[in-house]
Amino acid sequence: QYRINIAIDGPAGAGKSTVARKVASRLQYIYVDTGAMYRAVTWFMQKEGISAENAVKVLQMVQNMVIELKPHENGQMVMLNGEDVTPYIRSLQVNAEVSRYAQIEDLRTHLVHLQRQMAMTKGVVMDGRDIGTTVLPDAEVKIFMTASVRERALRRFNELDKAEPITLEQLEADIARRDKLDEEREVSPLKKAEDAVTLDTTNMSIDEVVEYITAYCIVQM
Ligand code: C5P
Repeated sequence: QYRINIAIDGPAGAGKSTVARKVASRLQYIYVDTGAMYRAVTWFMQKEGISAENAVKVLQMVQNMVIELKPHENGQMVMLNGEDVTPYIRSLQVNAEVSRYAQIEDLRTHLVHLQRQMAMTKGVVMDGRDIGTTVLPDAEVKIFMTASVRERALRRFNELDKAEPITLEQLEADIARRDKLDEEREVSPLKKAEDAVTLDTTNMSIDEVVEYITAYCIVQM
């Protein structure tokens, strides 16, 4: 069978990462979580006290940074300059600002370049916001995964570390705010590619979504 690339885009909390990872494992493909890359950069900049307004400095730091994604039992490990930063990148602090850093055009160009390199040999399942439109416009399969804001907040809530002091309503507001920032930004906004298949997962289980996408991919091979 010939190897294809699979692009999975959609708003925050639609279940893209879980689904993409499982589809990749079913097909024995490589999973690339591009959100983790934006998160790792955000975590680093926050640690160094470089704000998203300081695009010049952000870019300067990113150019000297080594970002690696490695497969891991529970998804993906993100290495930044050789350090495993996976435990830090899903914090509320990173959530709060990642979409601001993700608006920096030159940062996006840099990460998109890395992402394309990762997909060069094909056999990649990549999830994000702009994969079907910008990163891999030639991907053989493009899925646009959505779910209602309420349902997405519920899913995030259930997977949160319960030590995080946040309510379902706060999560809903956070998700709605990130959707808005991601949809309205100038560079590579969150947008369904014209040739993408929309999948509303509000009333689907993870396994049903994985089943659907895997079957669809096999037909395209
Ligand atoms: O997918 P995840 O929720 O981890 O992504 C975190 C944030 O990174 C998104 O809200 C978005 O602002 C940004 N992002 C992006 N382009 C991607 C992946 C993520 O702008 N391809």
